[in-house]
Amino acid sequence: MPIRRATKKTDGMRVARTIASLRATVTEWKNHGQNIAVVPTMGALHEAHLALVRAASSHAVRRIVTIFVNPAQFNDASDLANYPRRESDDAALMENEGVDLLFAPNPDEIYPDGYATAIKVKGVSEGLCGTYRPGHFDGVATVVAKLFNQTQADIALFGEKDYQQLHVVRRMARDLDIPITIIGHPTVRESDGLAMSSRNARLTPAERAKAPKLSETLFRAAQEILQGKSVRDTLNSAKQSLTDMDFATPEYLELRAEQDLRPLEGPSEPARLLAAVYIGKVRLIDNVPLR
Ligand code: PAJ
Repeated sequence: MPIRRATKKTDGMRVARTIASLRATVTEWKNHGQNIAVVPTMGALHEAHLALVRAASSHAVRRIVTIFVNPAQFNDASDLANYPRRESDDAALMENEGVDLLFAPNPDEIYPDGYATAIKVKGVSEGLCGTYRPGHFDGVATVVAKLFNQTQADIALFGEKDYQQLHVVRRMARDLDIPITIIGHPTVRESDGLAMSSRNARLTPAERAKAPKLSETLFRAAQEILQGKSVRDTLNSAKQSLTDMDFATPEYLELRAEQDLRPLEGPSEPARLLAAVYIGKVRLIDNVPLR
């Protein structure tokens, strides 16, 4: 989509490329007493993103969607290079959803020359994906804190699909006294159970056919634990059945407390099973609640 000015009004949806133009619109809305919800994304939008954007309308008068493929959170250069980018399709989708403003800054707007600050959230960012993607959650926490400051949003929506990320963002906002309410949205799945993800597009047809086995395995394991089977035995046989189905050995498959991601020995409190596993070159993550 050709954008010639910093802020452009297109049939109701504005597109801002700069923080200054974003702020001008936000100030206008705040002066009218309108509250704002933000949905941060990295673009290549799919139905799960749309679900967050739709849910946002029941929380705020104004909706901002941000699209920024954040280099700081990619610990793998080829993952960053291969990350799907479809900005004009994304803009059309957002406009169709009645989004008020799309913030799509260039990297040097977010990280200008001399940029030197990073946010590190201890505790909840350690273990799970934190072990396998060093620096990833620092990059997420930093960019999300910046997006919160830039948009001045009252509410932000994040998906439970990235469950550890949701915890990192909540902790960061609380610790830095950012006046924003974080809302978690349940994982949106394809009809065969695969959690939606921009990376699913990189699965070969054969890999795509196998991918739903991850959620099937997690749901089955959750059920078994709830029925009293030992956590250790259940997780071991779940890992084995994934490997038998031609997944790589899972990076992790763990039971954690919903409250603070503490490792759990059993479902003594609200808990989640979380997993990350490669199928071919694509890293899939998923999690299911024990309820
Ligand atoms: P991205 O992967 O584009 O996801 C944007 C938002 O959509 C996140 O809150 C994510 O959890 C949510 N989402 C993605 N797939 C989902 C699904 N199947 N069900 C429910 N929610 C889903 O996550 C990021 O971008 C980035 O790390 C970001 C937070 C934007 C920071 O750069």
